[in-house]
Amino acid sequence: MSEAKLILGIESSCDETAASVVLDGREVLSSVVHSQIDQHAQWGGVVPEIAGRSHLEQIVPTIQTAISEAGVLPNDLSAIAVTARPGLLGSLLIGVSAAKSMAWAFEKPLIDIHHIEAHIYAALMPIPSWEFPYITLVVSGGHTSLYQTDSPLTHTLLACTRDDAAGEALDKGAAMLGLPYPGGPSIEKEASSGNPKAFPFKLPLMGPDSLEFSFSGLKTALLYTLKGPGGKRTDPTLPGAKNLSDLCASFEHAVTETLAQKCMRACEQKKIPRLLIGGGVARNSRLRERVAHHASQHDIQATFAPPEFCTDNAVMIAGLGYAKLTNGDIASLDLDVAAR
Ligand code: KG4
Ligand code: ZN
Repeated sequence: MSEAKLILGIESSCDETAASVVLDGREVLSSVVHSQIDQHAQWGGVVPEIAGRSHLEQIVPTIQTAISEAGVLPNDLSAIAVTARPGLLGSLLIGVSAAKSMAWAFEKPLIDIHHIEAHIYAALMPIPSWEFPYITLVVSGGHTSLYQTDSPLTHTLLACTRDDAAGEALDKGAAMLGLPYPGGPSIEKEASSGNPKAFPFKLPLMGPDSLEFSFSGLKTALLYTLKGPGGKRTDPTLPGAKNLSDLCASFEHAVTETLAQKCMRACEQKKIPRLLIGGGVARNSRLRERVAHHASQHDIQATFAPPEFCTDNAVMIAGLGYAKLTNGDIASLDLDVAAR
């Protein structure tokens, strides 16, 4: 039997500084996430300069806490895995510089992680024995893409969004409604007491066979609903909590029902009855409910990443790091970052 592998994962691509130690790609020994939401909320979105400064302050204590909570020493680690792309360049550089310093100082292999592939790995983690291929949806603030996944390291893009990502549409929709950033959880909270059929938004399905997404029209439809028939409304917040929760429930329904139907289409077209869903929006309970509803009708086995590993975290980085290490996929110490 091969020796157990302990991987330290480091994530700093956007507005979370995270570190985690995972054993053999499955067993989470520690997971530390420092979220910057409070620092960005007043600006309505992530401000790259603020993100960079916060990562710089948090990266060392976050890594130290992850290692000590795991009950290990840096010398016990088998490798150090770090997100190098895609993301904010200044933010990525901080995680990658920390990872390189540790890899050099402790003479450990460095592993280059693609953030989206890590979101997919998070959805593979709950499955005890993998049965490839899968259809995979990654749905976050920056991405809404369908893939065919043939191994933890092999993903073929089937379709993506032509404009906004689903999380971006939720974030922008929430801003129009006067709800706090990040918009996805704000809309979900408000929607829980609303009627999803109150405002029947047309689903952007892009014809009967398309796997592509487009959420910008839905955002415009929300704006026109807010402006009212004369289109003169200047105050975007609707009077009365009832209307607001109905509007949130209807908008959330349109986004999540579209995602669920597209997943079913991809599974049917590719004749693959197994579906993985990861990324920040995969936390959403209406999305989980819509996917479960359609999946049971189509005999599709759907697995979501665990809620705590849907939004950015380092467990998924360490997990994918294990898959890459066992595949001999080691990066050199001149590893560079990339925005895309
Ligand atoms: O994966 P993630 O943390 O960062 C990116 O890689 O983009 O995803 C963040 C996105 C944001 O757009 C946020 O509004 C959305 O995920 N999100 C949610 C929920 N939690 C986070 N959307 C819907 N429902 C949620 N509960
Ligand atoms: Zn992410």
